Amino acid sequence: MKEKEIIELLNKMTLDEKIGQMVQIVGDIFLMDDINISTGPLKDLELPDEMLYNVGSILNVMGAQKVKKIQDKYLSKSRLKIPLLFMDDIINGYKIAFPIPIAQGCSWNVEVIKKIAEISAMESNISGANVNFSPMVDLSRDARWGRVMESIEGEDSYLGQVYAEAIVKAYQGKDVSKLGHLVSCVKHVAAYGAAEAGRDYNTVDMSEREFRQYYLPPYKAAIEAGAEMIMTSFNILNGIPATINKWLIDELLRKELNFKGVVISDYGAIEETIAHGASKDERQAALNAINAGVDIDMMSKVYANYLKELCQEDKEVENRVNKSVLRILKLKNKLGLFENPYGNTDEEKEKKYIMNKQNLKEAKKLTQETFVLLKNKNKILPLTKNSKIALIGPYADNNGITGSWSMFSDRTKNHTILDILKKRIDTKNLLYAKGTEILREKDINRILSAEGLPIINIEDEQEKEKYLLKEAIEIAKKSEIIVLAIGEHYKQSGEACSRSNISLPENQINLINELYKLNKPIVMILFNGRPLQLNNVEDKLDGILEVWFPGTTGAEAIIEVLFGDVNPSGKLTMSFPQNSGQCPIYYNHYNTGRPHVTDFRYVSRYQDIATESFYPFGYGLSYCNFKYKNLKLDKNKMKENDIIYVTVEVENQSDYEGYEVIQMYIQDLYGSVVRPVKELKGFKKEYFKPYETKKIEFKIDIEMLKFWNECLEYKAEEGEFKVYIGGNSVNTLEETFELY
Ligand code: NOJ
Repeated sequence: MKEKEIIELLNKMTLDEKIGQMVQIVGDIFLMDDINISTGPLKDLELPDEMLYNVGSILNVMGAQKVKKIQDKYLSKSRLKIPLLFMDDIINGYKIAFPIPIAQGCSWNVEVIKKIAEISAMESNISGANVNFSPMVDLSRDARWGRVMESIEGEDSYLGQVYAEAIVKAYQGKDVSKLGHLVSCVKHVAAYGAAEAGRDYNTVDMSEREFRQYYLPPYKAAIEAGAEMIMTSFNILNGIPATINKWLIDELLRKELNFKGVVISDYGAIEETIAHGASKDERQAALNAINAGVDIDMMSKVYANYLKELCQEDKEVENRVNKSVLRILKLKNKLGLFENPYGNTDEEKEKKYIMNKQNLKEAKKLTQETFVLLKNKNKILPLTKNSKIALIGPYADNNGITGSWSMFSDRTKNHTILDILKKRIDTKNLLYAKGTEILREKDINRILSAEGLPIINIEDEQEKEKYLLKEAIEIAKKSEIIVLAIGEHYKQSGEACSRSNISLPENQINLINELYKLNKPIVMILFNGRPLQLNNVEDKLDGILEVWFPGTTGAEAIIEVLFGDVNPSGKLTMSFPQNSGQCPIYYNHYNTGRPHVTDFRYVSRYQDIATESFYPFGYGLSYCNFKYKNLKLDKNKMKENDIIYVTVEVENQSDYEGYEVIQMYIQDLYGSVVRPVKELKGFKKEYFKPYETKKIEFKIDIEMLKFWNECLEYKAEEGEFKVYIGGNSVNTLEETFELY
């Protein structure tokens, strides 16, 4: 459609039809044969009867057949035949579940991130998705927050910018209407990851400088990459819920950042401004949200019920409604839905493309890049084929390894580690025992009952636990090496999954303690959605392979890494704390006036734990042994327009080939406002042959030295800087330079 035709269409629409476009509901309702408006599900949604065939978009319905059926039914009843938009949460893949986003980020490989986005977009686009609520680029510094599992960048804003751009471009392509592309909805604006105490939906209060310096840039990068949609966040930002925050949406996003696309609220978030105490009632919530600039109300009833009277009372509100609807219609037009309401939805392509062999093969490779080797004492890994293995743990024969968002992927299609190991080694060398459950009854039931789900009743739990442990000890005794597959329950990370104690579950710690007594080497494969406290088990383990929730091909990927077919190359994007009390902890913190030194009482520290993180940002081992040397700068002084070329030699001192992520950090030693101890400014993932040495080059330019100064201007200041290069944020070589 031409722009002129869209405006003509807008002019033909009644107020009800316009408001309908601004309402999003769950889509299954359209699949019912007889939608009884006064008693049926629509009543639960508390929407006016006439709204159903006016709503503009629906949520989380997938499958070509279903989507077409809904679109047909809707269009047959809609006066102006404006197609529905189908929006979905394809967070870590559609049918192929990929590693959860925090794991993807640990690949430090933009090509990996892109490829995952491309396959996910293709699979979901042919199955009906027009919009994907992804990426989540909320900077996450607090491991207690359950949603760190969805944070592509973890605690680093620079990574967030690089990844955001790659994902948005991969989803949308050059023309979003083309096969395999969909609209990227960036979320959650803004600063949702800074929820106080890591408790989901909680207060966010931070200086504008901190916000602009760290939290805003990944969203901004997504906008600059062309993201067509933004989702507001549940939290308040400096006193005002993000969803009704006029400064945030109207001023910052639309005016300053020139965002032209559609803004959608998060699920029910407009109505929730009443609970926040920021709107008096539903009517005022609707008014606040439309005035702030929210175009679509996701799953709350306030736009549907109140926008009409608000428009009738105030022309300005009606103008805003018109602008919102125009943006929504334009988006539908960009997707080509007026010409073809099914978009690229296609049953035949579903059969051919979804879960196809080539993509599964690719998925395994991509997955392997997300694993982080945290410990490898005495080079216990890779495993040798002939050693007798005791495979123990609740994740050893468990296909539930796709994480809490993979609602469209069929876990029964996944293999378990045990399945794959059976094929890999002589079965007389393989012993298996579950060892323990993931969680004890009281812990799982606390989660289930809080969700209103039926609780489980385990009879004789203590006896069963003892029995499982005994069985594990028996097989462990007969083995040469114990491979332990343990971790968090998938319901312990994700939305509304904050934890105050991020240790492994008690029963699993007990299992480790008992196995340790046998004096056999133990390798732990760790399944989890967040950094965990490991200081209470680490010394009992020889190897630790962090695999997060690795997805459909996880088991295959893990076994190949364990046996050394593939060398692990992931690096952490979030610091692992010593314990929960250390959260939030992040590498690019400011110094205090009393940095930690030993033998002096009055310094910034804890009495009971170390000050530094347990595993730092950027950390991850390899089967190779990399040595960094000869860090050189081509000059030590630069002016605004200069570039400093930095080189470092990296040597692989091992028989293995593999990747290393070379990281460059910069520190501004003093400024008009304090600057962090170091900040990531560049990285390269390079492949090394055995004993190969490579000279790696980085550039330092003025952009890398800029920050939001005391007057909130984005500028660099003259003075001294340090550059650090290394394989993680702690063990680095360093040099100094000056900006003059
Ligand atoms: C709530 C979540 O916060 C958001 O990330 C998600 O996209 C929506 N629900 C829709 O499911």
